[in-house]
Amino acid sequence: MFRRWCMGCVALVLLGTGARAADDRNPLAGDAKAAKAGEYQFRINCALCHGLGAHGGGRGPDLTRAVKKHTHSDADMFQVISNGIAGTAMPANGTNGQGVGMTDVEIWQIITYIRSQEVKAPAQPVGNAAHGKALFYGDANCSLCHMVEGKGGRLGPDLTAVGGSRTREALIDSVRNPSQRLAWGLTEATKEFPQEYESVTVVTADGKEIKGVTLNEDSFSVQIMDSSEQIHLLEKNKLLSFQKSRQSAMPKYGVDILSDKDLEDIVAYLISVGAK
Ligand code: HEC
Ligand code: HEC
Repeated sequence: MFRRWCMGCVALVLLGTGARAADDRNPLAGDAKAAKAGEYQFRINCALCHGLGAHGGGRGPDLTRAVKKHTHSDADMFQVISNGIAGTAMPANGTNGQGVGMTDVEIWQIITYIRSQEVKAPAQPVGNAAHGKALFYGDANCSLCHMVEGKGGRLGPDLTAVGGSRTREALIDSVRNPSQRLAWGLTEATKEFPQEYESVTVVTADGKEIKGVTLNEDSFSVQIMDSSEQIHLLEKNKLLSFQKSRQSAMPKYGVDILSDKDLEDIVAYLISVGAK
């Protein structure tokens, strides 16, 4: 009896506070004034990741593509903008990642704006994905440190979804200039700032040097993955030395090592996987 009552209460709470589309269709669809207001909202809350003009940026996909991955209808989009996408960097409305909390009307304005920016023609595919895959697991050595669809190394971030969540340009940039913008680890909602893949070198009390990337860190401890994928949890006050660096653990791939064409092929491969 109690349990049934409680389940009802949970359902009520979910209905009451769960952000869900009040309507299935955008009440402001096609309204030019709403699009303008939405552009303003977008700039404050979304452009950091999705770029100005919604063309995509270092942290989020191009939203001007008519065919999207998670969202088809306006109602889907309302849901995604309200609740975020679990397991990705896409934050829920009003959480740390996404600036100030928006009202339902403001969310519809943003959707109106995004729709006004959509380009109908699909982008021309560039690069040869099959060749890119061969390079990724072969000569280019990417799979030494990165996993795609469960295969590969773990020192760097899993790249299965990266092709769907970042632009072509941003991917190319990550390979040509890894240190310019370090990748984020999985964002935890409780963290004010997402953990980045910083490089770290420590010397333990018994004089052993460990080099790797930080997985997690707080004031007292740090979790490190070393280059042979061993994970170490260390207490900071017991270390002889602790040095972090924003120099990426990923080697910089210049054109002498990886030609523009080969890089296009690898990016085409990542985009083909990310679109699934
Ligand atoms: C901290 C970075 C970040 C912020 C801020 C952010 N997003 Fe996202 N968003 C993402 C990422 C990353 C994805 C892709 C998730 C995936 O598929 O891996 C995404 C996905 C989306 C999608 C789904 C796209 C598709 O293909 O279906 C929509 C729509 C979207 N975001 C809208 C917004 C709007 C509107 C805002 C501002 C109110 C916003 N986002 C703020 C990172 C962000
Ligand atoms: C020696 C290990 C290593 C190798 C080899 C390596 N990477 Fe990385 N990669 C990393 C690490 C560590 C990061 C996280 C730090 C950073 O962003 O630079 C990273 C980050 C990235 C990112 C950014 C991911 C994000 O979420 O923003 C991309 C894209 C990437 N690597 C692609 C590649 C490709 C493509 C290759 C092969 C051409 C490659 N990497 C080879 C270690 C490596």
